[in-house]
Amino acid sequence: MKLSVIGAGYVGLTTAACLAQIGHEVFCSESDLAKLAKLQNGVMPLFEPHLEDVIKGVRAVGRLRFGSTEEAIAWGDAIFICVGTPPLANGDADLCAIEGVARAIAKRATGYRLIIEKSTVPVQTGAQLRKHLSVHSTNGLRYDVASNPEFLREGTSVEDFLHPDRIVIGADSPRAADLMREIYEPIIKQEFTCPVHSGCPKRKDPVFLATDTNSAELIKHASNSFLAMKISFINMVANLCEVVGADVTKVAEGMGLDPRIGPAFLNPGIGFGGFCFPKDVQAFVRIAEKSGCDFSLLNEVEKINQRRVEHFLDKIRKELWVVRGKKIAVWGLAFKPNTDDIRFAPSIALVKALLDEGAEVNAYDPEAMEKAKPVLPAITYCSNPYEAAEGADAIVIVTEWEEFRQLDWDRLRSAVERPLVLDGRNMLDPTEMTRRGFHYVSVGRFPMTPEQNASTTNPVQSFASAEG
Ligand code: UDX
Repeated sequence: MKLSVIGAGYVGLTTAACLAQIGHEVFCSESDLAKLAKLQNGVMPLFEPHLEDVIKGVRAVGRLRFGSTEEAIAWGDAIFICVGTPPLANGDADLCAIEGVARAIAKRATGYRLIIEKSTVPVQTGAQLRKHLSVHSTNGLRYDVASNPEFLREGTSVEDFLHPDRIVIGADSPRAADLMREIYEPIIKQEFTCPVHSGCPKRKDPVFLATDTNSAELIKHASNSFLAMKISFINMVANLCEVVGADVTKVAEGMGLDPRIGPAFLNPGIGFGGFCFPKDVQAFVRIAEKSGCDFSLLNEVEKINQRRVEHFLDKIRKELWVVRGKKIAVWGLAFKPNTDDIRFAPSIALVKALLDEGAEVNAYDPEAMEKAKPVLPAITYCSNPYEAAEGADAIVIVTEWEEFRQLDWDRLRSAVERPLVLDGRNMLDPTEMTRRGFHYVSVGRFPMTPEQNASTTNPVQSFASAEG
């Protein structure tokens, strides 16, 4: 099919590339001219595993082209809207860009088009789109609007697109539902050349769930908010573990063995970030508020997450005593591994607070440093974790990059001023770190080592005395 994708961000670019990979002829537009020029010249504007190779492959056979919004509107029988919906100051999603695209489609498109909202939008946006298209349509445009929420995780988005658990479609006409099924047919049947796996392992075919537009829109916000709630829940359990003397890893393992709970998204740490969870939770609260539903449960999820950085800073302060003048190696700036995205990353608040308190920060991230430089200009960017650790009073792990698991700890032991590691993602093994000669502090895994046990008040005693 001839498909258009409007917006070449993480979602749009992955969508365009993967739709071309499964056989469609795709035109992708981008309104940021510098970014568009990069894409047209074969330069990636962002880092996402496998995406560059997929784009190269499909461009080489002419199935993916980049250009203007006007060209995209003229091209596709179906048009995916993948523009940004950033948060406004009050938590609402800013729908300006979506509105602008809808107006442009209404004014320029002719014949029949399927218009698909893929950006994360509040419930009833589909209904608004329909209304808006009919108000502004000047060329006798006939159309359907469908919702097709994306569940792509940055870092694995190509794999998630091609091998999803579910494809959710919200369509209010049989024609729209049939077209959506046709677009996704190769993925539903898992019949395409997979660019990620050679000899793709047999997996369960994805579920194709067709529903009405409002329900599809709600599925996205409800899913992300639920996952964020799971993370905040385990983070509170981690706090409790630190006070009573329990190991959150074991608690999460025990909980996750119950299939009704499941083990995923029970990793405690310095908090969730990225461009989805923080804004989607806020937007969902606002949607509920406007509909007269008190969803204050989610306000707590957000508050707990906002306190994570401060909680971790307290650990740093406790270990360093005086932060001013200390050299701190920060490993990881991206909001999670395998991405260069630093939007709403906990690293930003953490580094700013350390600088405010007078620390010197030497940071290293395998992918995110270019994006971090304008946001965090007052730190030193290093070319590897060893350089960042040179003379450091503490190594602070903020993102669990695989690379940090395979380091030469003897070399690091001699490079640092003090062998202290504060792990905000629980990625290392406490016993192993003690054996390597480091004082190791993580999240919710108290008491962790005999050494730390000896140097701290017995948590069980202090808990008992606090109660009594
Ligand atoms: C998320 C959703 O997973 C995806 O389905 C949706 O379409 C977009 O939003 P993404 O933002 O890429 O994807 O990141 P995800 O892997 O979900 O992680 C979000 C944040 O939660 C990260 O900061 C991560 O470090 C944190 N996290 C995740 C935890 O702190 N603990 C966990 O157990 C899992």
